[in-house]
Amino acid sequence: MEKKFFEKGDIKWDSDSILNELDNFISIYEKRPIKNNKGGMQFSSMFYFYFILKNKKPSFVIESGVYKGQSTWLIENTLPESEILSIDIDLNQREYFSKKANYSNLDFKFQDLSKIPNDTLVFFDDHVNHLERIIESNFFKIKNIVLEDNYSLENGDFQTIKQLYNNHTFKHNPGFLSLLKSSLIFNSLIIKKIFQGNFSIKKDLDQLTKRIRDGYEKINFNNIEKNISLYYEFPPLINDNKNLLEKKPLLDKHDYISDTNNYQFVNSNFFTYLELL
Ligand SMILES: C[S@@+](CC[C@H](N)C(=O)[O-])C[C@H]1O[C@@H](n2cnc3c(N)ncnc32)[C@H](O)[C@@H]1O
Repeated sequence: MEKKFFEKGDIKWDSDSILNELDNFISIYEKRPIKNNKGGMQFSSMFYFYFILKNKKPSFVIESGVYKGQSTWLIENTLPESEILSIDIDLNQREYFSKKANYSNLDFKFQDLSKIPNDTLVFFDDHVNHLERIIESNFFKIKNIVLEDNYSLENGDFQTIKQLYNNHTFKHNPGFLSLLKSSLIFNSLIIKKIFQGNFSIKKDLDQLTKRIRDGYEKINFNNIEKNISLYYEFPPLINDNKNLLEKKPLLDKHDYISDTNNYQFVNSNFFTYLELL
């Protein structure tokens, strides 16, 4: 049975202060460049991300997971003065190209973040193990972290912090064809390693491990948890009468948020903000 864990630390906002930003956000959302962002951010996640950006006003924002570019556009339009680093291992999917963001296809952990401001905020929307991302952020001394997908127990396709809080180790089942492809990639890397003495396999292996996203067995989450000073899962935006709603929704109904598009507003991926000590 899943424990109900949603919050830790001194949360500086409440439902009213979140909802006060809704109309402002809607006027921005109406201008979004990507109208069909299937596989990417939807209304409620965008709204909550907008809210955090407005609230924290970081001078430097790193996003990991660009996809078509909707989140890049949102950061740029919410914080026009801030610097942006936009990372995706496959930048070819972009439909919106920012003139302002610095793009990189190098994984977050390989970035040079030696001279970042103290108020840096990192946004993870890349489906990489949250444990690794939190450890890496801690290493870079980044205190403000936003998690777009913080799925509960068996949902999602990678290990999330919500699952860790519930002592659940995620087991990924990528499917036969995907595992076969991973095996072929692995074999070809080994052959390359045999025949090219100079070839460094490390980064390719790192990418390969991200194709099979099982969580670590027997890790002691307390070692990481003690560094988390604030943890906040945003509630569903609107009541859709599903069991999925663990927190009280912010709204019962709203003219703009129609029932027909409810999936966009429910926050089924438990959009989360956290702070490290
Ligand atoms: C859910 S999409 C991101 C959606 C986007 N933020 C938006 O606003 O719609 C996930 C993206 O993560 C990227 N990705 C996968 N592994 C990654 C990694 N290790 N580092 C950065 N991006 C990665 C994928 O290529 C994909 O474009």
